[in-house]
Amino acid sequence: MDLGLSGKVALVAAASQGLGMASARALAAEGARVAIISRRQEELDRVALEIGAALAVACDLSKAESIAAAVERVNEELGGISILVNNCGGPPAGTFDSISEEQWISSFEQVFLSALRLTRAALPSMRAAKWGRVVNIVSSSVEQPIPGLIVSNAFRPALAGWAKTLASEVAADNILVSCVAPGRILTARTETLDRAASEKTGRPLEDIRRERVAAVPLKRYGTPEEFGATVAYLASERASYLTGSVVRVDGGAVSAI
Ligand SMILES: NC(=O)c1ccc[n+]([C@@H]2O[C@H](COP(=O)([O-])OP(=O)(O)OC[C@H]3O[C@@H](n4cnc5c(N)ncnc54)[C@H](OP(=O)(O)O)[C@@H]3O)[C@@H](O)[C@H]2O)c1
Repeated sequence: MDLGLSGKVALVAAASQGLGMASARALAAEGARVAIISRRQEELDRVALEIGAALAVACDLSKAESIAAAVERVNEELGGISILVNNCGGPPAGTFDSISEEQWISSFEQVFLSALRLTRAALPSMRAAKWGRVVNIVSSSVEQPIPGLIVSNAFRPALAGWAKTLASEVAADNILVSCVAPGRILTARTETLDRAASEKTGRPLEDIRRERVAAVPLKRYGTPEEFGATVAYLASERASYLTGSVVRVDGGAVSAI
């Protein structure tokens, strides 16, 4: 199937590794001109070469001015953005008693405000072209809270609510907004969370893994490639009647219908 992505300008946030990188790779493979952003310029440059991204711009997603500067550079060097993939570093794991006021505030900036700021900066070019896609990488916590991830459980549903509202507000300009909700996809983040659970409980990492895999109907973690393929589809011409939805990539793990 031709996804119709050839030549489209895409910006993928938090793309030096993991889900962002896999999404950028899938878009670039379909012929999109992809800009990747995250904090480590050297790593971004290496990844851009590897996946065929057109531009790599260092950006701290927790800072409004850094986001504005990155989007301006993409617009200048590649032309108006028509596909935006909102993504960020994972918020800290923890419970109500362990998360500090500062962590709540910085996570709000990183998880929630970064998506709003990127979208605000990218919308004008989408509106001018009467074509746009905003794909938000969220989490299965938008539907089913994850024990020990209270920050994700609070802010991801907020982002999904924002995205659903935005979808209606920008539909008249042919801008489609969706969310992709990963369950457990094998990345550095999943490794860190599994290791933290092992250290906290004093149980071997293999036991934690076995238990978590057993809870997934497909009996394995997902691959970044499987996740990236879904993002590329949602960003594509072929998904032209799909907006305001949350698409799960979770191997069936969320138990709701
Ligand atoms: N993997 C999963 O199964 C899963 C499940 C549910 C939700 N999620 C969520 O999906 C998102 C991506 O997950 P992942 O597994 O790909 O995580 P990851 O492997 O830890 O990658 C995180 C990315 O975020 C970037 N980043 C972190 N802080 C940043 C900042 N302040 N400004 C700019 N970039 C920043 C990192 O690059 P730099 O260090 O270069 O900045 C890196 O590219 C996370 O929010 C995670 O919580 C993942």
